[in-house]
Amino acid sequence: MSAPKICVVGSSNIDLIAKIPRLPKMGETLEGRYFHMSCGGKGANQAVMAGKLGAQVSIVTKVGQDHLGEIIKKNYGEMGVDSRYIFTTADTSSGVAPILVDDEGRNLLVYIPGANMLLSPEDVDRAAERIASAEVLICQLEIPLESSQRALQIGRENKVRTILNPAPGRSLGRELLELCDVVAPNETETEIITGLPVDTEDQIAVAGRRLREMGCKVVIITLGHRGAMLVSEERTVRFPAVKTEAVDTTGAGDAFIGSFAYFLAQGKPLEESVRRANSIAAHSVAKVGTQVSFPWSHEIVDLLR
Ligand code: RIB
Repeated sequence: MSAPKICVVGSSNIDLIAKIPRLPKMGETLEGRYFHMSCGGKGANQAVMAGKLGAQVSIVTKVGQDHLGEIIKKNYGEMGVDSRYIFTTADTSSGVAPILVDDEGRNLLVYIPGANMLLSPEDVDRAAERIASAEVLICQLEIPLESSQRALQIGRENKVRTILNPAPGRSLGRELLELCDVVAPNETETEIITGLPVDTEDQIAVAGRRLREMGCKVVIITLGHRGAMLVSEERTVRFPAVKTEAVDTTGAGDAFIGSFAYFLAQGKPLEESVRRANSIAAHSVAKVGTQVSFPWSHEIVDLLR
């Protein structure tokens, strides 16, 4: 079987992670445990996750003409991600994300998009042939909205299965949502897009159905340590969490999206793809960092049993 082709149009960042005993109070200086710098960004993480499982992945992204941009490009090369459509700009720096992670694995994350926000619809058009030849396209919202929308349009016109991870959350119109086969927000993003509360399971299911009314075909709401919920035309399915000791939950959502896309592109049924992605996302919280904590294909055999 040939490797499934996935195209990711999205962000690349350098994550500056500080492991700390607890989150500091406003104005407090707190001694941290250690520092870890690694490649991140939602687009990059999702691309690397799918690649680690065996997909043939292309990334469409933009970095600064700086040292961080060089690190990002080198990382894509090492991870086997096709880097033909990594654009470079001298107008601003590469994207950066300072992240605080406490002893319970919870995080506080600031995102400085830099070059990501200069990835234009025209850049996306330059990669149209790549998008059109993929089995699955993944987009997020750490680049300009019109660029994600353009990518989704190209995907739809070419019968590519389209997945939108609407992160970071913002209000979205029907025009964009109708271009997506699958929309996969977390609880906060679901609340922002629908304007509905998501405190209870019933409320989450209602919000999922509202997202469908807004134009999404299939909705998957990721619920962190509580698992995930799938809302499709036929049914609503609850996937319970897989128990893991959390060291760092950063990027667990990206592990979910990247692996879900891989299984879908491989031809697995929708529910089976969600079940597998749910296990992989749970596994990814056991180490500090995002891409470094994602499993390789040989590591998932036991995990998926
Ligand atoms: O989803 C986690 C990612 O969000 C981090 O890698 C960080 O770069 C931010 O984009």
